[in-house]
Amino acid sequence: MCGIIAHIGDERVLNPIVTGLEKLEYRGYDSAGIAVKNGSGLDVWKCSGRVSDLKETIDGEESKANLGIGHTRWSTHGPPSDENAHPHTDGSDRVAAVHNGIIENHESIKERLIEEGYEFTSDTDTEVIPNLIAYYLDRGNEALSAFEQTIDDLEGSYAIAVIVDGIDSIFAARRGSPLVLGIEDESYYLASDVPAFLDHTDEVVYLEDGDSIEVREERVNFIDENDQTAQHEIEQVDWQPEETGKGQYDHFMLKEIHSQPTSLQKTVEGRLDTDAGTTDLDIDKDLSDIDTVHLVGCGTSYHAALFGASLLNRCDVSARAIRASEYEANTGTPPGNRLFVAVTQSGETADTLGALWQANEAGVETLAVTNVVQSTAAREADEALYIRAGPEIGVAATKTFSSQAVLLTMLSQHLARVNESGNRVEDADELVADLMELPDEVEHILQSSDTARLARKFLHSESYFFIGRGLGCSVAKEGALKFKEITYEHAEGFASGELKHGPLALVTEKTPVFAVCAEDNEKTVTNAKEAQARGASIVAVSPPDHGIVDTADDHLYVPDLHSVCSNLLANVQLQLLSYHCATELDRAIDKPRNLAKSVTVE
Ligand code: G6P
Repeated sequence: MCGIIAHIGDERVLNPIVTGLEKLEYRGYDSAGIAVKNGSGLDVWKCSGRVSDLKETIDGEESKANLGIGHTRWSTHGPPSDENAHPHTDGSDRVAAVHNGIIENHESIKERLIEEGYEFTSDTDTEVIPNLIAYYLDRGNEALSAFEQTIDDLEGSYAIAVIVDGIDSIFAARRGSPLVLGIEDESYYLASDVPAFLDHTDEVVYLEDGDSIEVREERVNFIDENDQTAQHEIEQVDWQPEETGKGQYDHFMLKEIHSQPTSLQKTVEGRLDTDAGTTDLDIDKDLSDIDTVHLVGCGTSYHAALFGASLLNRCDVSARAIRASEYEANTGTPPGNRLFVAVTQSGETADTLGALWQANEAGVETLAVTNVVQSTAAREADEALYIRAGPEIGVAATKTFSSQAVLLTMLSQHLARVNESGNRVEDADELVADLMELPDEVEHILQSSDTARLARKFLHSESYFFIGRGLGCSVAKEGALKFKEITYEHAEGFASGELKHGPLALVTEKTPVFAVCAEDNEKTVTNAKEAQARGASIVAVSPPDHGIVDTADDHLYVPDLHSVCSNLLANVQLQLLSYHCATELDRAIDKPRNLAKSVTVE
């Protein structure tokens, strides 16, 4: 949700800022803009639309500026428009600011500044930032002091970057939204995420929450939330620049679907012992007396949480998946016996972080399952487990769902082993062996899937239903989410037994029902038949010898492996189905309308 970048270096920062914005566009793509400091003021280009539109606005203009800021927006305050696009400037164009997050007290600041004669032209909360800095500059403060006083006045969550006419510094701050510094010799980048500058450097410093920073050529000053100078370690990220490009694929989503054999390999690397039939997640905490596990996430990550909760319950460990926005820490079993698992690809989703903070405050043991090293969730939780899926750029999460589900599978095995009430699942040997095979099995599905044909066959249906039980229910829900996200067609995922309790009223011959039957489950066959009797076509997503095959009108086959693996392969089939339908409909697959990959407001 909104991507920001700032860069100070040798001459001509415009191009690296534009390419950085292209890499950040997954965070929002309603409008985009750039401000640079030239020899005689600030140059600003901005417009509604994509970064490609911004490039047309810049129209090859040359700039020798050596510092600047850029933004790609997902609207919160005010619709997408040229006026609401960032950067925002004060009335005298001395200060330009980009912002990710929400300034909660913007209305009172705005009123105060309007009384003082400052003028506003946009609907955004962000516009108070450059005006407040200008207010402090007008009262004789140096730029750094004006910036710091402004930050002290702001309430809410933000990552902010600011440039000031006549000052060779970038000022930035973070509270609740991510910001990372990239270091390339004597050039610096600040961005919401590493891919923005990974082509230039893999040396980074993750800002701590509450940090402010002044970046000058050859020098960086960190100031912590107590206004003390801070020192932070430089780290090296292990993502490769080519991982942030589309390679030979038309879309990031297709690339990421096809990279699952590799990403899954990385997820399990060194964590499975096939001889012993055990998993090793290297968890420090003693989790032996945990009696309830809450798996908390949003969107796709919530579906991975559902998958994990089903598995834990199968191992006799009491578990529940909860939507992060609905989480309440102060209910249920005593905090000391609870484990809170934040499931979040980005580690920055505001709803999930809000729930994590509640859990931390209540004294619950917390664990983050995330893809992004040093993300806020990783740092705020007592312990972090990384899914190691590599950067995911497509807004629709694909490879990270698979890796989350596999990691949560391993976590369920760990808990079942160490937990007093848990039982080691009987089929652990088979599970571990099949998890080792999963990357190859995914490859096979990718090569043999019949989803392109089925996508064309069902293209103009009224609604698309996905049903399943247990693990299959989470796969059905994820299948429907993927479908609606990128095709804009109506799709719903149901527990198959629920179909007859209401949704069946919507079923007609124009409602194909995709029945996830990756494991032995005769009841789902019955539920599919109930829909078929009302005219629906049934597509079985199942092994070839499953009981549903005789009933179904069409088939998407998966091998008959351990239920975890067969269900995850069913999910790959459904990812491909969504992709092919969206391609037929000519949708903006990597940037679906109204969505953003990382939603950093509640
Ligand atoms: C947004 C994205 C979804 C994603 C969800 C949770 O809504 O559009 O694709 O599943 O956030 O993101 P997280 O980074 O916490 O997994």
